[in-house]
Amino acid sequence: MRDLNEHTITSAVLERFAGTPDARLKAVMAGLVTHLHNFVRDVEPTFDDWQHAITYLTRTGQMCSDTRQEFILLSDVLGVSMLVDAINHRMPEGATETTVLGPFHVMDVPFVPNGADIGAGTVGERLFVQGSVSSAGGAPLPGAVLEIWQSDSDGFYDVQRPELEGPALRTRLRADGQGRFCFWSIMPTAYPIPDDGPVGDLLAATKRHPWRPAHLHFMISADGHEQLVTHIFVAGGPYLDSDAVFGVKESLIQEFSHQAPGRAPDGTQVDGPWRMLSYDFGLKSLHALALAVQD
Ligand code: BEZ
Ligand code: FE
Repeated sequence: MRDLNEHTITSAVLERFAGTPDARLKAVMAGLVTHLHNFVRDVEPTFDDWQHAITYLTRTGQMCSDTRQEFILLSDVLGVSMLVDAINHRMPEGATETTVLGPFHVMDVPFVPNGADIGAGTVGERLFVQGSVSSAGGAPLPGAVLEIWQSDSDGFYDVQRPELEGPALRTRLRADGQGRFCFWSIMPTAYPIPDDGPVGDLLAATKRHPWRPAHLHFMISADGHEQLVTHIFVAGGPYLDSDAVFGVKESLIQEFSHQAPGRAPDGTQVDGPWRMLSYDFGLKSLHALALAVQD
C-alpha cells in the first residue's frame, strides 16, 4: 500500500472498503470508487478544475434549505432523477408512466370535494379535468387519493408566491365509489426551473435553457398499490422536446381539448371558451410486485 500510482490506487481504495459489513453499502462504494476513478483518469482534471468542482458542490450545498433542494435540482438537470425513476418504475401493461416529483409538492394539503374549483379567483383559461383511477389493466380504485398541483398563468407555483395565504392551484381529493374524479382549474403554463443558483449557472454555462413544458402534477395513492408520481403534459406546447429535467414521456402528453361556451360534463354552464382533459390513471399493484420478487 505504498507508492500507489494512477494505475494502482483504485484497487488499493477498493481493498480498504472490503470489510464493509453492509453488503449494499459495500457494493455502492465499490461502484462509486471505480467509476469516479475512471472518470478522473478519463477527464484528467487540473487542480484548478478540481477546485472549481469542489467550490461548485459547496455552493450547491449552501443553496439548500428547508424550501430549496439544489442537489435534487442538479440531479434533475443531469438526467439522474429520471434514470433512477426509470430503473425503479418498470411498469406493467396498463400502468401510467411515472416522472419526476419536482420541488413544489406540499404535504397534507386539505381535501376538497370532487368537482371543486381549485383555480377560483386565479387568472387563466378555465380547465375541466376528469378521469378515473384503476389498478393497471384491472378494477377501479374507489377512494384513491389524488394530490394535484400546477403552475399559474405566469409560470409560478403557489409556494413561490409568499404573498399567497394557503394553497392555490393545489389540492387533494378522493376518487368516488367508481374510482372517478373531476375538478376545475386553469390551464398550466410552461415555466423555468429555479435558475438563480448553481444549477442555473451550469445551464447558462452550457447554453441550456431552464424551461419545463406545461403540465399538471399528480401523486396518486391507493391501498395495495404503488404510489404514482406523474405529470400530464399539454399537447402542442413548447419545450416538450427539450424539457430541462428530461421528464417528458409520450404517453403523458395529452390533448387539453378546446371547448365552446356551454355545459361541462359536471353540469357547470361556462360562458367563455374553456379546455377539457380526460385521463384514466392505472396504478401498479403491490401484489404483482410481491409475486415478481418471489420469482
Ligand atoms: C416541477 O415540475 O415542478 C419541477 C421538476 C423538476 C425540477 C423543477 C421543477
Ligand atoms: Fe412542475
